[in-house]
Amino acid sequence: MKRDFLALNQFTKDELDALFRLTAELKAQQKKGEPHQLLAGKSLAMIFEKSSTRTRISFEVGMYQLGGHPLFIANRDSQMGRGEPIRDTARVMSRYCDGVMIRTFGQEIVEEFAHYATVPVINGLTDLFHPCQIMADLFTVIEHKGGYDGLKFAWVGDGNNMANTWIEAAAIFGFDLALACPPGYEPATEVLRWATARAPGRISLTTNPHEAVADADVVNTDVWASMGQEAEQKVREKAFAGFCVDETLVQLAKADCLVLHCLPAHRGEEISDGVIEGPNSAVWDEAENRLHVQKAIMATVMK
Ligand code: CP
Ligand code: NVA
Repeated sequence: MKRDFLALNQFTKDELDALFRLTAELKAQQKKGEPHQLLAGKSLAMIFEKSSTRTRISFEVGMYQLGGHPLFIANRDSQMGRGEPIRDTARVMSRYCDGVMIRTFGQEIVEEFAHYATVPVINGLTDLFHPCQIMADLFTVIEHKGGYDGLKFAWVGDGNNMANTWIEAAAIFGFDLALACPPGYEPATEVLRWATARAPGRISLTTNPHEAVADADVVNTDVWASMGQEAEQKVREKAFAGFCVDETLVQLAKADCLVLHCLPAHRGEEISDGVIEGPNSAVWDEAENRLHVQKAIMATVMK
């Protein structure tokens, strides 16, 4: 049976912890310059229906470091952009490649692709989830804090793909997550329902960023308008007033809190320049860890 990486909820805590251990090994090997060509001779197709800097580069370089071959496929330049059905593309690509990474809009698109593909499919971001990013974020927390047990995580901003994935992570790993989202911008109801049933009392939702950030060990935010929501930018700027992770807000968290942002960031909107450049910010380690954690994911599902 092939194994996809579409959402964290498909994995047990033990399986995800094993991915963190492999990430640490692969990162150490890469830093020492030791070869770790676990996917020699294998190819990964990377389909992008949305823009990307980190995801594209980290998957492409990661596949190269593992001894494999990455193929960048912009949706608009392929027959998918001219309407070739997902199920046909999935079966054809499975005849050439050993794995597929997709960044697209609906979660149902990656699910349909994975259903018809006979090779592992990895979610490189959908409107619902960004599982590779949250794995990199948690690995960064583990590196800086020695683990995630007993920590309080705060989310400030949109109830978007990042927030939804954090909610799943809180339920699976068993840590406290306090989210502050403006009214009307809450996370996906079905994700909250699943997570609160699985981990009662772990996840709280408020409209008050001060409440969410109070005594937090990790403070997290993301853009107010995600890819595909550009037309809502102005409306969202009004709705998200007071939701900037700035120096005043971060002071309510623990003094040694980590500030995370998946990037790209809009300084002066969801995060201040002082905070992203300040002593609590771990955003560059976080971005680097995309490379290491995705190598572990690829090596695990494509081996
Ligand atoms: N964080 C992230 O996924 O970045 P990109 O959109 O640049 O890939
Ligand atoms: N929520 C953002 C994340 C970008 C990495 C988006 O979907 O655009």
